[in-house]
Amino acid sequence: MPLFFSPLKLYRGLKKTSIFIFLFISYIAYSAWVYTDGTNTVRAMNEKELAGKNIYQKNNCTSCHQLFGLGGFLGPELTTAISDKNRGAVYAKTFLKFGGNRMPNFHFTNEEIDEVIAYLQYVDNNASTYKNNK
Ligand code: HEC
Repeated sequence: MPLFFSPLKLYRGLKKTSIFIFLFISYIAYSAWVYTDGTNTVRAMNEKELAGKNIYQKNNCTSCHQLFGLGGFLGPELTTAISDKNRGAVYAKTFLKFGGNRMPNFHFTNEEIDEVIAYLQYVDNNASTYKNNK
């Protein structure tokens, strides 16, 4: 006579079910984290930084400079220009104020220069993974 109730089969079934439940709960927990805190690293730009971004776009700095590797190659990469220990904010300000050998002088006001620096600082702050990859 065939055995309809097998304790061994029941045990194996429960084992599979518990693995499934474990994976399912892990998936839900991980998804909840990724869609809430996991991606919450970038804050929105404040007004000053946004003004700097507009100046950067209006004057087409991208034609000569790269941010995150994108842009022209006449000038240096600016993604980490502010935190770079050989460059930094004062160094960047000098070029924005007076231009360079090949960098044009845009005749910015001091306020505009501060805005551009704030924007470059913002970019730099959000470049942690970019720095790790260098
Ligand atoms: C015609 C090309 C050109 C344009 C347009 C240009 N730059 Fe430059 N920039 C350069 C070059 C080249 C240098 C390197 C110094 C030199 O040779 O004059 C430089 C240097 C700099 C530096 C110094 C940082 C470093 O790492 O050496 C900063 C900051 C900078 N530029 C910001 C800007 C911003 C902001 C704009 C837009 C308002 C801009 N540049 C537009 C060519 C340009």
